[in-house]
Amino acid sequence: MGTQARTLCLLLFLLQIFTKPAELAENSDFHLAGNYLLGGLFSLHANVKNVAHLDYLQVPKCNEFDMKVLGYNLMQAMRFAVEEINNHSSLLPGVRLGYEIVDVCYLSNNVQPGLYFLAQNDDFLPILKDYSQYVPQVVAVIGPDNSESTITVSNFLSLFLVPQVTYSAISDKLRNKLRFPAMLRTVPSATHHIEAMVQLMLHFRWNWIVVLVSNDDYGRENSQLLSQRVINTRDICIAFQEVLPMPEASQVLTPAERQHLNTILDKLWGTSARVVVVFSPELVLHNFFQEVLARNFTGIVWIASESWAIDPVLHNFTELRHTGTFLGITIQQMSIPGFSDFRVRHAGGGPPTPNRTNLRATCNQDCDACLNATESFSNTLVLSGERVVYSVYSAVYAVAHALHRLLSCNAKSCLTKEIYPWQLLKEIWLVNFTLLGNQLFFDQQGDMPMNLDIIQWRWGQSQNPFQSIASYSPTQKRLTYINNVSWHTPNKIPVSMCSKSCQSGQIKKPVGLHPCCFECFDCPPGTFLNRSADEFNCQFCPSSMWSHKNAITCFKRQLSFLQWYEAPTIVVAMLAALGFFSTLSMLFIFWKHFQTPMVRSAGGPMCFLMLVPLLLAFGMVPVYVGPPTVFTCFCRQALFTLCFSICLSCITVRSFQIVCVFKMASRLPRAYGFWMRYHGPYVFVAFSTAIKAMLVVANMLTSTINPMGRIDPEDPNIIILSCHPNYRNGLLLNTSMDMLLSVVGFSFAYMGKELPTNYNEAKFITLSMTFSFTSSISLCTFMSVHDGVLVTIMDLLVTVLNFLSVSLGYFGPKCYMILFYPERNTPAYFNSMIQGYTMRKS
Ligand SMILES: *[C@@H]1O[C@H](CO)[C@@H](O)[C@H](O)[C@H]1NC(C)=O
Ligand SMILES: *[C@@H]1O[C@H](CO)[C@@H](O)[C@H](O)[C@H]1NC(C)=O
Ligand SMILES: *[C@@H]1O[C@H](CO)[C@@H](O)[C@H](O)[C@H]1NC(C)=O
Ligand SMILES: *[C@@H]1O[C@H](CO)[C@@H](O)[C@H](O)[C@H]1NC(C)=O
Ligand SMILES: *[C@@H]1O[C@H](CO)[C@@H](O)[C@H](O)[C@H]1NC(C)=O
Ligand SMILES: *[C@@H]1O[C@H](CO)[C@@H](O)[C@H](O)[C@H]1NC(C)=O
Ligand SMILES: *[C@@H]1O[C@H](CO)[C@@H](O)[C@H](O)[C@H]1NC(C)=O
Ligand SMILES: *[C@@H]1O[C@H](CO)[C@@H](O)[C@H](O)[C@H]1NC(C)=O
Repeated sequence: MGTQARTLCLLLFLLQIFTKPAELAENSDFHLAGNYLLGGLFSLHANVKNVAHLDYLQVPKCNEFDMKVLGYNLMQAMRFAVEEINNHSSLLPGVRLGYEIVDVCYLSNNVQPGLYFLAQNDDFLPILKDYSQYVPQVVAVIGPDNSESTITVSNFLSLFLVPQVTYSAISDKLRNKLRFPAMLRTVPSATHHIEAMVQLMLHFRWNWIVVLVSNDDYGRENSQLLSQRVINTRDICIAFQEVLPMPEASQVLTPAERQHLNTILDKLWGTSARVVVVFSPELVLHNFFQEVLARNFTGIVWIASESWAIDPVLHNFTELRHTGTFLGITIQQMSIPGFSDFRVRHAGGGPPTPNRTNLRATCNQDCDACLNATESFSNTLVLSGERVVYSVYSAVYAVAHALHRLLSCNAKSCLTKEIYPWQLLKEIWLVNFTLLGNQLFFDQQGDMPMNLDIIQWRWGQSQNPFQSIASYSPTQKRLTYINNVSWHTPNKIPVSMCSKSCQSGQIKKPVGLHPCCFECFDCPPGTFLNRSADEFNCQFCPSSMWSHKNAITCFKRQLSFLQWYEAPTIVVAMLAALGFFSTLSMLFIFWKHFQTPMVRSAGGPMCFLMLVPLLLAFGMVPVYVGPPTVFTCFCRQALFTLCFSICLSCITVRSFQIVCVFKMASRLPRAYGFWMRYHGPYVFVAFSTAIKAMLVVANMLTSTINPMGRIDPEDPNIIILSCHPNYRNGLLLNTSMDMLLSVVGFSFAYMGKELPTNYNEAKFITLSMTFSFTSSISLCTFMSVHDGVLVTIMDLLVTVLNFLSVSLGYFGPKCYMILFYPERNTPAYFNSMIQGYTMRKS
């Protein structure tokens, strides 16, 4: 082609651009001439049948299918936005935006419009290596509405990097910008819809739900997202999930489909789940809800996905209000001033001319019934305000703002130049503008983080049929509640739980496979339930702690030991004080009258060997009171028994001396010599004390000396603090040694029972030993049946009484004689007694 020819071409081209508006100044809903054309894809009709038209070589005729009222509403939003931009010249001054809108009839007609938009004005789509200099008919495409169509169209458009802004395709697949580099959208993705839905269910504590899905990508994808979301957190369970039959184009159910639908409704009738989530295009649901009404279902909470949440046709089934409460997820409400009038405005100047000069070979740019249908729902549409409409509106504005930047517009004019779609795409990613008070921009995935609303369906004159009850912010991922729901159960939130939640402190025992279905069991005392760690098992309290039934924490056990203020302690303490002071005074009296025969007959210096340990023992009684420590345990187990043994061995050796020394002197003089020379009595006392000490040490070595806590078998709230639990065996061992000494002492005393009363201790030793013996036996018996502070008290009481019996029983009478019968405490009196005894014997 020569230079001249090329110039001519360009001239012709420019001529075409500037003459086109005039040429196309006709009225049609589907076309508007302009310097830059936007492609619009909307579903004005829908063939929900999932069978493609592959058996004949014609583009499907959309107007043969069912009409989608909302589709026309959205298309009007695009027209409105373009007209508004053209009217207000500040955004694109001097530039006229045009559009070409095609009905994709949901899925059936999405390839042909894509090719149509990509072709040039002459319907010519060249086969090239490089499309970077290629200018297709449209600069950007708005739509289509559903994800499946969007993906198909996007596969064509991305080859040319033609920007595509969709307004209601929510699929998460579209976030993949490697696959869909030219795809942006003005709605949050499905993940956010699902999250809002889940948070709504959690808010009302519904954890037992039914999921009904359409037999298409929309139903499958969203239900999979929902089940993944609830399986991950295990807080909601799906009782069952069913696929709704897709009706034929005729909208009449085949017998097989009716059978299938009946099976689903039977299951729904039988389940205890009262919350039903429905993911489906709205047209599939007409048959379904008719069947639901025929079955007189009541008391169900229906949760609508965005595909049918604000559908005015379904909402017009006013009978549905008797089936329960309808909640739905949809885009937030934004009011667009002037749109309500525009929606039902007749395109001025009569019907569109059937043949334009450049009418291109496309169809599906007609919908004769749309305007009348939209008018008939006008009341509902006006009351419900703009939601998805705003998404379309903002999509158009996003493209316009990008054009504004690309054409370097100022307040008066823009550069009118040829633009390539990929240039516009770059600018669309960067737009950041305010529209009706909303700050709009695309995030990293090309989504606009618009808020979602939870709406409730209301029926009634002059109120919003889709009342917002909560709002979900995709950035915060949180629901905020703004309105109360009016439930079908008045003043009561409907319940949909597999099992009622367990009471505090009860474990869950799973029933079946669902984590939401369980029985509740009590945690027994001594265990507790930590719900954040394990809901299914009771955990044992640490050994120093205890819990009551159904506890969620343990408390410290009450420690039990002897206290000063307790009555038994006071009694024993008084006895000990009595023993202490009497022993002290005896010590004093004996010291004063050390040289008298009474003291000498009682053992002389050995008396002090007995009195000092006695005094020590009485003084050490407080070690029994208060929480035991190593020191007090040592005292309790070693000191008292040693003191007692010293006393016993002193008494024994004294009895031996009285009875046997004279006989030994006469019959075994050498032994007597040894006995006297080596201080036999003291050696004996030291020897038996050493044996006793060894016993005690052995006893302590076999068991620990540390104080131990044992659980009171009668009251687990209490821990008994005591010295070593092997105490009983130790007591028996100790007692056996004391017993031996007692028996020996008693034998000598018995042999000397005829001695003068001053020397005769048989009665006393018998009494004291019997008391000591019986008390030890009864203490052991008591310990074997009892466990607790009472044992400590008994132990202490027995110990104190034993010492008292030695102290008062042995030394008491002697002191009494010393103090009150000093005339009997003379060598002369003793001599006379001995003489009297000798005479009686002979
Ligand atoms: C645009 O301007 C025309 C003519 O002034 C007017 O009739 C129409 O309602 C305006 N449209 C919008 C959307 O503002
Ligand atoms: C539903 O209720 C209507 C009227 O109350 C009754 O005629 C019809 O038999 C009921 N249908 C079923 C399935 O119970
Ligand atoms: C439509 O086109 C046909 C031929 O292409 C022409 O004869 C007819 O006059 C046109 N009609 C209108 C209303 O322009
Ligand atoms: C729309 O309604 C008007 C009157 O309300 C009627 O004249 C017209 O024929 C209707 N159009 C269609 C396509 O039904
Ligand atoms: C709504 O439903 C009623 C009764 O089913 C029907 O008469 C009316 O035409 C419907 N409205 C629209 C706008 O279709
Ligand atoms: C958009 O613009 C606003 C105000 O001009 C700014 O605060 C915000 O950070 C911008 N957002 C992005 C994503 O650039
Ligand atoms: C919702 O109900 C509660 C109690 O019934 C009431 O306190 C609250 O104001 C209500 N909120 C709204 C937004 O109506
Ligand atoms: C419960 O379990 C959690 C997590 O394992 C832990 O952080 C918490 O301390 C536990 N609470 C109690 C009372 O044991």
